[in-house]
Amino acid sequence: MNFHIMTLFPEMIEHSLSTSILGRAMMKGLISFEAINIRNYSKDDKHHKVDDYTYGGGAGMLMQAQPIYDCYSAIIEKISKARNEAQVDDAEADDNGAKITGDDAAFKPRVIYVTPQGAVFNQQMASDFAKEDDLIFLCGHYEGVDERVLEEIVTDYVSIGDYVLTGGELPAMVMIDAISRLVPGVLNNDESAMTESFNNNLLEYPQYSRPEEWMGKKVPAILLSGDHKKVDEWRLEQSIIRTKERRPDLYERWLSENPPEPEKKKRRRKKSDAANSEANAEITIELGDEKKNHET
Ligand code: ADE
Repeated sequence: MNFHIMTLFPEMIEHSLSTSILGRAMMKGLISFEAINIRNYSKDDKHHKVDDYTYGGGAGMLMQAQPIYDCYSAIIEKISKARNEAQVDDAEADDNGAKITGDDAAFKPRVIYVTPQGAVFNQQMASDFAKEDDLIFLCGHYEGVDERVLEEIVTDYVSIGDYVLTGGELPAMVMIDAISRLVPGVLNNDESAMTESFNNNLLEYPQYSRPEEWMGKKVPAILLSGDHKKVDEWRLEQSIIRTKERRPDLYERWLSENPPEPEKKKRRRKKSDAANSEANAEITIELGDEKKNHET
């Protein structure tokens, strides 16, 4: 996966993304980052200006279309060249001789404009983006970006939450981190084997390490029992409780995807009761019921 980030502050990106797990993945050649300074594509040789006043008035400056579009075109050219070279390599390695088209005219990578006006980023979006070979990010600044260049190049408008930051670099880095760790090979076995929050819309269960007792607080006995089935059941139960408490929105989603088995309730009801209440029956579930349903 190759990330191409159009920004006015490339140093912000370069310093942050080359450490820890992402730095290791980069060294292994699993991912790459390229932060391209939009200012390099300014036509203003003296001040390298990339912004101007807004037509119709209003406070603040707007990023102009031309430097962004030229920056984007340079990235596309670079990606196309790399893809064509890879095609040539494949053809040479292939005895049958794969067809080399020479130019990849139809190729258009996804371009993510990070903006508070976008759809709010989530784990599902991260895993969709992780399937791409190349992703281009556009980081805005000032009062925004000339709409015409957005119309021309952007495929996805994405926000990291309902608040406004001073620029798009931090949101882009947040998304790049979440996407990168889903690229095959980026996480080692231990890291990827971890049960994660947002898998199946449930938050992760509480975890404990040594010592067994700290500040008078004991590790739950079940975790020391060695009974893996019981541990799994306890963890699922804890995940459900935690999600219900902290993220009722996710809990509702999980519940709709994991409805309790109505048979059990029906069996307990008399036939006549069931007939009366069926029309407006609202399934209210106690956590105990959920646990029972998931034990089977
Ligand atoms: N730029 C400024 N604020 C933002 C946000 N919340 N998400 C994405 N991009 C942004």
